[in-house]
Amino acid sequence: MSLLDKVYDPEEFRKNGHMLVDLLADNLQNNLNQKNDKVINYIRPDTNYERWNQLEFENPAAFFKEVINNSIQLQHPRYIGHQVSAPAPLAALAGFEGMMLNSGGAIYEMSAASSTLERVVIDKLKGYFGLDDGDGIITSGGTLANLTALICARNIKASEDIWNEGQKEKYAFMVSEEAHYCIDRAVRVMGWGDEGIIKIPVDDQYRMRAELLASYHAEAQSRGITVLGVVGSAPTTSTGIYDDLESIGAYCITNNLWFHIDAAHGGPAVFSEKYKYLMSGCHLADSITVDAHKMMMTPSLTTMLFFKNSKDSYRTFAQKAQYLWSASDEEWYNYGKRTMECTKIMLSTRVYALMSIYGMKIFETYLDRCYDMGRKFAEIIHSDSKFELAVTPQSNIVCFRVKGENTDETNALNRNIRHHLLEDGSFYIVQTVLKDKVYLRVSIMNPFTETTDLEALLNRIKDLL
Ligand SMILES: Cc1ncc(COP(=O)(O)O)c(C=O)c1O
Repeated sequence: MSLLDKVYDPEEFRKNGHMLVDLLADNLQNNLNQKNDKVINYIRPDTNYERWNQLEFENPAAFFKEVINNSIQLQHPRYIGHQVSAPAPLAALAGFEGMMLNSGGAIYEMSAASSTLERVVIDKLKGYFGLDDGDGIITSGGTLANLTALICARNIKASEDIWNEGQKEKYAFMVSEEAHYCIDRAVRVMGWGDEGIIKIPVDDQYRMRAELLASYHAEAQSRGITVLGVVGSAPTTSTGIYDDLESIGAYCITNNLWFHIDAAHGGPAVFSEKYKYLMSGCHLADSITVDAHKMMMTPSLTTMLFFKNSKDSYRTFAQKAQYLWSASDEEWYNYGKRTMECTKIMLSTRVYALMSIYGMKIFETYLDRCYDMGRKFAEIIHSDSKFELAVTPQSNIVCFRVKGENTDETNALNRNIRHHLLEDGSFYIVQTVLKDKVYLRVSIMNPFTETTDLEALLNRIKDLL
């Protein structure tokens, strides 16, 4: 057998595929029943680099095992760190199928299943956001979706034809000071620099002070800057608190501004009877980013970008002046015209697999479980005199810290705790800084995290004091 015949041998693929699924299923089992005692086996980067350089593998099983062992275990109930899902196995399998077929893509012939399902998924979900007449795309990550939305807003709201002729005027978006850094980055990618992002202060709940929009807007205008839109966070990354979308939306409508909602994390609250109130006002948005790889259990990256006006979804990369745009340019099935990516991996199948096999209820069940657990954790923290909360959580993101007198010392203490936990590996949490105070930050992404796990975390922290 030639080397190429061996590489493409169907029996070899079958054998390795079964072996890999067995390894991953065992790993899932060991995570769920906590037989894996560590969530992360932290190795310093340079040591890990040396180690991988020296490793040699005689067979694929040894290689796959090493990758599993050297990876953080998101399916472990004590993984409560960054907002990345513990992928539902079926969604991961849909991802795997997409990798093997490799037929995502820019044009319909190359991606019949995934492009058609992209439309099906967007059409089935847009109504939950109140965007029944809208449309959307699926793309690789919230960062890219936010950039796409802001470019679209610029094309539509700016008075000059920036896409074709470049820009002469100065423009900006207004955004909460707590917004994710990718919004700041998107503005800089568009070449607007510091002046292009106007940061609106937050209140004591870390929510954008929507009542300040008018004065910041006027101040920008007095400096010759045209504000094109406002970005709301649903919720902010650090604290998990939702902006007041109704008020921001109303301001945008009154002032003819684009309203984008970065709902990368918490957009799926719309699927929950209990929590959809957090997204109220989202129907006022012109565009909404929702990461399925955060609160919809798909593997990374799987992001939906919804537009209120279906035509707008064709105008981000419009290389023609709008008056030349005709309905025939709107080929819904050639998604490459509407996404930053040309070749794109199959993304829609990951969401569709969950919707079609388990029903829409799965998204509500998952979100309710994680958000409920965030609130329970907050109650536990609140009743323990050793700890304080940054804010009462609205979602599955909880920021807390060990109480202390002196700010610098208390900051160092909390930083050290997070550092010890990382090296120890029995829990994975992260940290954030809010109003100059260091907080420990937890995102309950795993639906199998129990209150006993969270109590064990607090006990572990007390052991470190
Ligand atoms: C609110 C928010 N927006 C955008 C992003 C970036 O999304 P992605 O990592 O999918 O690019 C994140 C990531 O944590 C986020 O929390």
